[in-house]
Amino acid sequence: MMTIVGGARATDDAAVTALKQRHRAMWALGDYPALAAEVVGALGPVLVDAVGVRPGERVLDVAAGTGNAAVPAALAGGRVVASDLTPELLDAGRRAAEARGIVLDWREADAEALPFAAGAFDVVTSCIGVMFAPRHAVAAAELLRVCRAGGRVGLIAWTPTGFIGRLFATMKPYLPAPPPGVQPPPLWGDEAHVRGLLGAGVEDVRVERRSLTVDAFGTPEAFRDYFASRYGPTIAAYRAVADDPDRTAALDADLVALARDAARSGPGGAPVLDWEYLLVTGRRTAPGAS
Ligand SMILES: C[S@@+](CC[C@H](N)C(=O)[O-])C[C@H]1O[C@@H](n2cnc3c(N)ncnc32)[C@H](O)[C@@H]1O
Repeated sequence: MMTIVGGARATDDAAVTALKQRHRAMWALGDYPALAAEVVGALGPVLVDAVGVRPGERVLDVAAGTGNAAVPAALAGGRVVASDLTPELLDAGRRAAEARGIVLDWREADAEALPFAAGAFDVVTSCIGVMFAPRHAVAAAELLRVCRAGGRVGLIAWTPTGFIGRLFATMKPYLPAPPPGVQPPPLWGDEAHVRGLLGAGVEDVRVERRSLTVDAFGTPEAFRDYFASRYGPTIAAYRAVADDPDRTAALDADLVALARDAARSGPGGAPVLDWEYLLVTGRRTAPGAS
């Protein structure tokens, strides 16, 4: 495992460090590689298209997981580093990419302390990824630091009021409270919040609300069971109440109620979920401007 270096790491307090260790283990639970391939795989190409990766450009995908955005960026001709906190996901991504003959550099790294030089990349992306780093301002500053002046930044984040934002709100009462100063992930999908994070460090900012259409779950229970067995944060919520059958039953019911409430009727009456996200792109200003 490579050593993680960077200024922010040194200032982590013990609680934030411990939280990141739990996050690292949490994202390795279940089967996120399957979920990335079966449910959210369309988002990576959307982000790569929006940010416009050109052949030969140096691209960093932060919190890349198995390479949902990093792989299409490489297919577009980028020289791509896929970085993530969770080595198990990087390993799965590396194996899948190698099987397809796609070359990327897979690097273990905390989004709050990226082990790259200032201005090292032409394009910096994060697809439903950096939003999960605990300290938003620290992570945003790192994204901007490693992007050269005139380079592009592209982000996709679930919105607070969209389906996955509501999923996190639903799971929150079942999970231990985070340490003080840690902000909820879907805030990255709030336009004012993300504009504030990027500040003067990015110009020509474009923000768009879009939805991922999800028709993979035939019933609300199928959604619940899929997430309870594959999605690390949901598995963590179930583990937190594992000793309490009533709380477990309540979580079961809340997840089913969420999926039932959010579903619309699709072709042939099959249930469809629209998972709203924010797509943000912009051009990095000269560092002195931020
Ligand atoms: C929902 S997954 C998204 C993965 C991928 N970008 C995708 O679109 O499928 C969230 C990712 O954030 C990563 N992550 C969480 N906290 C992180 C941190 N502090 N630094 C870097 N990656 C982090 C997790 O390991 C996980 O791969």
